[in-house]
This record gives sequence, structure tokens and C-alpha cells, in this order.
Amino acid sequence: MDTNFQGLEKIPKHVALIMDGNGRWAQERGLSRIEGHKEGAQSVRAVLRAAAQAGVEYITVYAFSTENWKRPPAEIDGLMKLLVHSLNEYEQELHDNHIRLLVMGQFERLPLPVRIRLQKTIDATAHYTDHTFIIALSYGSRTEIADAAKAIAEKVKSGEMKLKEVNEQAISNHLYLPEIPDPELMIRTSGELRLSNFLLWQLSYAEFYITEDYWPDFREEQFFHALEAFNGRDRRYGGVNKK
Ligand code: IPE
Ligand code: IPE
Ligand code: MG
Repeated sequence: MDTNFQGLEKIPKHVALIMDGNGRWAQERGLSRIEGHKEGAQSVRAVLRAAAQAGVEYITVYAFSTENWKRPPAEIDGLMKLLVHSLNEYEQELHDNHIRLLVMGQFERLPLPVRIRLQKTIDATAHYTDHTFIIALSYGSRTEIADAAKAIAEKVKSGEMKLKEVNEQAISNHLYLPEIPDPELMIRTSGELRLSNFLLWQLSYAEFYITEDYWPDFREEQFFHALEAFNGRDRRYGGVNKK
């Protein structure tokens, strides 16, 4: 397999992934949607391993959006059970690779057994500093930004913050995970050209990589290709080419 991560010049510090296409992957094989999600969970495992190998420090995966609560209850239930099952199955790999787990989103909206299971692994891996794995769960970027605005407004009202202190940094500081650097690369699988309410603030200067592959087919090799594409990008940040 052609995945020489060491040969890459630039490694993004933070990669965010919209894991899409599990349902279509399953449908094409005559399987149930949950079978697609199960196979997708194996891709998460593969990408985590590849990212650790490549030296990517932060990986954020979009696992469940605020909009995904509109899905049939049986699918939601299947996804929540799969999450618990996956944590049971892969927690050891987090320890082996020194990966810390974090969750971003409306934690309190998740079923209690899921919260308990997540918290156990969050606590057990909190001391790792090499790599961070962030799962966006019941996550919606507009809610996140609206909540930040509300928290800031309350601080200004109470006098804890001055109006002139409300700037870009202040907004970043009031998002779910203020200490995490913005993603440099955003990958979306299954060819959809949209953000679906994912990290609207944090992705403002990220490079986008969209692949037609369905998420269950996205493994180490595909991740390597995304990093290769990132290496070919010219990031100007509104400036001009340095020659
Ligand atoms: C992504 O796959 C997983 C979640 C959103 C939870 P989908 O379930 O959206 O798969 P498609 O888009 O229907 O193929
Ligand atoms: C985005 O996928 C959300 C996740 C990957 C969790 P969706 O399948 O929900 O997005 P839309 O509906 O195609 O925009
Ligand atoms: Mg989808």
C-alpha cells in the first residue's frame, strides 16, 4: 500500500472529517443502514491509527449532528448502541496510541448510558498529550455559536467582560473546546459539497478535501491521499504567493 506518511512535507495539526455515506454504502449492498454504520466504525479506527502514525495531533469526526435527531428512532438507537460498543472494543487502542478522547456537542441530550460510557473513556484518557480524538455528537455549529454569543452577552451584562473585549478571540474562547486549534484540513466523504452545520467558525481557513468514496471505504490509503492533496495546496490566507 502506498502510504508513506513520513514522505509528506506538511502534516496538518488538526484534521476534521464529515463521515458521510454509510447509508448509501449499505444500500448498494442490500444491507441495512446500521450495517453501513458498523462498517463506518471500522473506518474511524483505521483513520485514528493512520493519523497517529502520520503525526496528526487532533482528529475531529462528525458522528451525529443536531439535525440527525430527525432520523427514525431505530436508526438513532442503533447509532447510540454502536457508539457504546465501539468504545468497548477500541478503548485499548486509545491507550496504546496515547490518544485522549474528547466530545463536543449537546452532551446532556445523549442517552444516560451513552454519557456514562463516554465519560469513563474521557476520564481514563485525559492524561494523554500526544493525540486528541474529538467526537462531535449532537453537534450543530449554529447552536454552538449562538450559545457562545449568549454566554458573552451574560458576561457583558454582569460586568465580567467589557463590550470592547468582544472580539474574534472572545468568540473562539466561548465555543465548546476553546483550547483546540482550528482544523487545517476538512475531509468529507461521499461527494456531498456542503458543511451540514459542521464547525462553521473553526473551518474558516481550512482546506477542503471532498472524495466520492463512501465513509466505510475510507481507510488508511484514502486518508493518505487526503494528506497528499493537502500538501499540494497553496495556503495564502488572503495574501499573495511567497516566491
Ligand atoms: C453518515 O452516513 C453517518 C451519520 C450521519 C450518522 P449517513 O447515514 O448520512 O449515510 P447516507 O448519507 O445516508 O448515505
Ligand atoms: C452530516 O451528514 C452529519 C454527520 C456526518 C454526522 P448528514 O448525512 O446528516 O448530512 P446531510 O443531511 O447530507 O446534509
Ligand atoms: Mg448522509
